[in-house]
Amino acid sequence: LATLAPKPGEIYADCTAGLGGHAAAIAQELAPGGTVMLNDADASNLERAEARVRSTLASDAGVTIRTLHGNFADLPRRLTELGLAADLVLADLGFSSNQVADAARGFSFSRDGPLDMRLNQSARLSAADLVAGASEGELASMLREYGEEPAATRIAKKVVRARAQSPITTTGRLAEIVREVVGPMRGGIDPATRTFQALRIAVNDELGSLEAFLAGLREGAARAARGGAGSSWLRPGARVAVISFHSLEDRPIKRAFGELVKEEVAVDLTTEVVRPEKEEVDSNPRARSAKLRAIRIADKGRG
Ligand SMILES: C[S@@+](CC[C@H](N)C(=O)[O-])C[C@H]1O[C@@H](n2cnc3c(N)ncnc32)[C@H](O)[C@@H]1O
Repeated sequence: LATLAPKPGEIYADCTAGLGGHAAAIAQELAPGGTVMLNDADASNLERAEARVRSTLASDAGVTIRTLHGNFADLPRRLTELGLAADLVLADLGFSSNQVADAARGFSFSRDGPLDMRLNQSARLSAADLVAGASEGELASMLREYGEEPAATRIAKKVVRARAQSPITTTGRLAEIVREVVGPMRGGIDPATRTFQALRIAVNDELGSLEAFLAGLREGAARAARGGAGSSWLRPGARVAVISFHSLEDRPIKRAFGELVKEEVAVDLTTEVVRPEKEEVDSNPRARSAKLRAIRIADKGRG
């Protein structure tokens, strides 16, 4: 809230509405007269976020709530088509706690369920399809690249041998296969963690989506800084923040933001990356790896 500094009447685009926690807090600052644009790949989360934002706003707040179901990679284009220019943009990457907790969604290696992992349930490819169809080499490089898994080659070999006996269709069976290769839990981290992260990133093309969003940001920021109001999906002076959870995400964000700052299209709002304080991590351990970076798009009028 301090970094994005929402003001009454502004337009807020939430790329990853999730359970609506951030959106509800920001929406209250937009009254009277602001707009909240909620976007999520997960249709059920989008519904929850909308209900949460609605329920936290006073009846006379006058804040407009709109929803978009889809990948945030398409958000710049969709906002442009709607003729909307955002003053505030937030992307809080990855998955939400309810998605992991629901065994039927297939994100969890500790709860047995179908090997699914699709954030968008209308997407075609599930994790089971990927595990069934990828070659041993493709599996190994996916685990290495997206999971930074040192045992990638051995896990890929074992997966290929196991799937020849019977298809790997559950999270429990995949986790067992990985544990057989990597060995027992170490330092409280399940050995299947890296494999599951890699598969989730691949199934949802998470890095490709982030790159596409950052390309849209680059273009929108340059237009806004150059052309002023009406020329971009971003308003001159817009604040844009991204929260990431691992270095594969943080690196491209740092690079893209750094380039915009260097080109004087934006200024840095977080010269040092913002990390959660100890109290936050104690009360919410999932926040431990979070990193927040933010920029403000240049505004010719204000500099
Ligand atoms: C960490 S949660 C967001 C939590 C939210 N900020 C809140 O306060 O409740 C991430 C959300 O982003 C969504 N998501 C992840 N990647 C996405 C993408 N490429 N496009 C759209 N939504 C995405 C997930 O479905 C999930 O609901």
